[in-house]
Amino acid sequence: MDVRRYTPTDADAVAALLEAAVGAGFAGSAAADPRLSWVAYDDGLCGAALAVVDDAPRLRRTYAEGPAFAALERLPVRGRVVRIRELAVRAHRRGRGVASDLVARVEAAAAGLAYLHRLDTVHVLANAWLPSDPALPTSAGLFRRAGYEDLGEIAGFFREFSLAAGATCPACGPPPCRCCVRVMLKRLPSA
Ligand SMILES: CC(C)(COP(=O)(O)OP(=O)(O)OC[C@H]1O[C@@H](n2cnc3c(N)ncnc32)[C@H](O)[C@@H]1OP(=O)(O)O)[C@@H](O)C(=O)NCCC(=O)NCCS
Repeated sequence: MDVRRYTPTDADAVAALLEAAVGAGFAGSAAADPRLSWVAYDDGLCGAALAVVDDAPRLRRTYAEGPAFAALERLPVRGRVVRIRELAVRAHRRGRGVASDLVARVEAAAAGLAYLHRLDTVHVLANAWLPSDPALPTSAGLFRRAGYEDLGEIAGFFREFSLAAGATCPACGPPPCRCCVRVMLKRLPSA
């Protein structure tokens, strides 16, 4: 397997992977910071982790209230958080550590960016999808194993979005989406 940094030439393949993994309409744009984002190929694209440097105050507003909001508010993040905004692995390659490897690479790259943002500590955040259908996999376990703190579950996280976008969820079907997310956060020492 060839794992390398994401470039814009991967965008179409990544969009197809995300559509298969999280459903048409939920994948959003393939916005990704090439310094932080990774793709894995075997006979085609088999995995992707797209990350961005996000604005902590804006992120707090998306959580509005509750435990994740409170936890983010306590962090000395000086306005910046690395957010893993998309993570997916092709169904036939799951359960072999591909996603865990991609997440570790995002973290290593994030630690290296600390100096750019003059941060003593880098925070990496992910919203782990908890599908309403328990037969579907979730990333919450792999984030936990990688040392992420669980900031709490947010019920119906995609409800409003699914209604507005008319997005069909692989777990819930037509809107409204009833899936939850678990907000996972890891604090890295700077490189
Ligand atoms: C979540 C996902 C990215 C994990 O990818 P992966 O490469 O299988 O991840 P890893 O192998 O590093 O670790 C995966 C887990 O899969 C489990 N697993 C084992 N065999 C599996 C299989 N055939 N299919 C799915 N999961 C399997 C592992 O035991 C481990 O379980 P745990 O974390 O619940 O304890 C992948 O299942 C996926 O793309 N899911 C759909 C989209 C999604 O949920 N993305 C995350 C949004 S934040």
